Order: sequence, then structure tokens, then C-alpha cells
Amino acid sequence: MATYIVLLGLPGAGKGTQAALLQEALGLPHVTSGGLFREIAEQDGPLADRVRAILASGDLVPDDITIQIVEARISRDDAANGVILDGFPRTVLQAQALDKLLAERGEAVDIVPFLNLSEQEALARLGGRWVCSKDPSHMYHTRFNPPKTPSVCDIDGAPLFQREDDTPEAHRHRLEVYRENTQPLIDYYRDKGILVEIDAERSIEAIKADLLAATRPYYERG
Ligand code: AP5
Ligand code: MG
Repeated sequence: MATYIVLLGLPGAGKGTQAALLQEALGLPHVTSGGLFREIAEQDGPLADRVRAILASGDLVPDDITIQIVEARISRDDAANGVILDGFPRTVLQAQALDKLLAERGEAVDIVPFLNLSEQEALARLGGRWVCSKDPSHMYHTRFNPPKTPSVCDIDGAPLFQREDDTPEAHRHRLEVYRENTQPLIDYYRDKGILVEIDAERSIEAIKADLLAATRPYYERG
């Protein structure tokens, strides 16, 4: 039986930070829809141009494109034992598409940790984020998690950069988009009895400990 974990939470809640730690601890791949789109945005062609513009604005990529891209990713061999989903699903339609896809394989979403924090804290985190140019799972924050040498990744020495959608305008818009489209997923998964609320206004280590405790039973089930 495979394990499907869906991380839910505001932009800046720490989904990417925690997914990278969970990947290390559980050995399941971290699948980030935002990361998949950022890879596409670096390419050439009409799809790349469209995705680049959507990302910069903070709007959502249309559901049909998103579902197709995530479905292809979770169908790869390395996802045979399951995945840690970060940023997908983000609309009820995407959640229903995921349920359908997994049901066809005799599987289902097992657990949905909801990283709960205030919008104010989320904005503070987004405002200071720096990302490694070699491996985007290496993430820093000017105040909360600074690199040892400014602008340089501690792990591989590569330069750090700020994401194009880390602007005050895009932050505000992403929070609005979340409220309207993604917040309903909290009830969607709560009604299924698989939502686990985690206080995300704490240290990275404290949140990680709770996440491990909540997810391990599903993973160890095999
Ligand atoms: P995506 O990349 O998913 O962005 P997001 O949801 O806005 O979330 P973030 O990556 O900004 O935040 P995070 O929760 O991962 O926090 P992080 O760990 O970085 O999506 C980007 C775009 O892609 C979307 O706007 C949309 O256009 C498109 N897209 C993606 N998925 C889509 C979908 N399903 N459908 C349609 N469109 C889609 O942490 C933030 C900062 O805080 C870091 O600096 C970190 O070091 C710091 N930090 C983390 N934890 C803590 C802590 N506990 N204490 C202090 N600081 C902390
Ligand atoms: Mg992220």
C-alpha cells in the first residue's frame, strides 16, 4: 500500500520546508506543484510563457494543466510507494481529480497535515525567504533561518535568490487566491476525517516532530 500525504497551508506556512524534511525522514518523494511550474517557466515556448506570467502574478495555473502535470509526476516509478504533495491540490476540483486518480489505483489520500498560522506570520516568512539556486529545497530566511554566509547556501555553496513571486503585491494576491480557492479544502478533508491541524507558528523542529508523529503510522503500515 502506498502512502499519500497532502500538506495544506497558506503561502509561507512552511510546506516546502517541512516537505523536504519529511522526504528525508520517510524516504517518499516531495512533489511540489509550484516547483514543477517553476521548472516549466524556465523553458521556452508558449506554455512556459503562460506559466511564467501566471506565477509572477500569484494567480493559479488552470486546473486542467495542473492536474495533468501532477498526474504525470506521481505516475513516475519513484512515486510507487506514495508521495508528499506540497501545493497540490489547491482547489476542490483538483482534490476531486486526485481522489479519482488514486481510487483508480485502489489508493486514497491518507493524511492531510494542515499547517495553521496567521496571515501576518505568513507574510513575514515570505518577505524574508531566500532559495538556493542549485537545489530549491534548501531554503533560508533573513531573520528566522539565516545562512551562515549572507546570500550563499550552507549546504552546497551556491548563490541564493528570491523567487519572482516574492513581491508584496504577489503575496497579497496569493493570500486572496488561497482564501477563495484553497481554504475550502480544509473542510473537504476534515469531512473525510483525514485532516490533522498543526500549529505552524512554532519552530521548524517543533513542527517537524509533530508531522513525523502524525504521518509515521501511515508510512510504517507499509
Ligand atoms: P507554491 O510554490 O506552492 O507557493 P505557495 O503555496 O504560495 O507556498 P510557498 O512556497 O510560498 O510557501 P511554503 O508554505 O512552501 O513555505 P516555505 O517552506 O517556503 O506555488 C507558487 C505558484 O505556483 C502559485 O502561486 C501558483 O501560481 C502556482 N501553483 C502551484 N501549485 C498550484 C496548483 N495546485 N494549482 C494551480 N496553480 C498552482 O517557507 C517560507 C519561508 O519561511 C522560508 O524562508 C522558510 O525558511 C521560513 N520558514 C519555514 N518554516 C518556518 C518556521 N517554522 N519558523 C520560521 N520560519 C520558517
Ligand atoms: Mg513552497
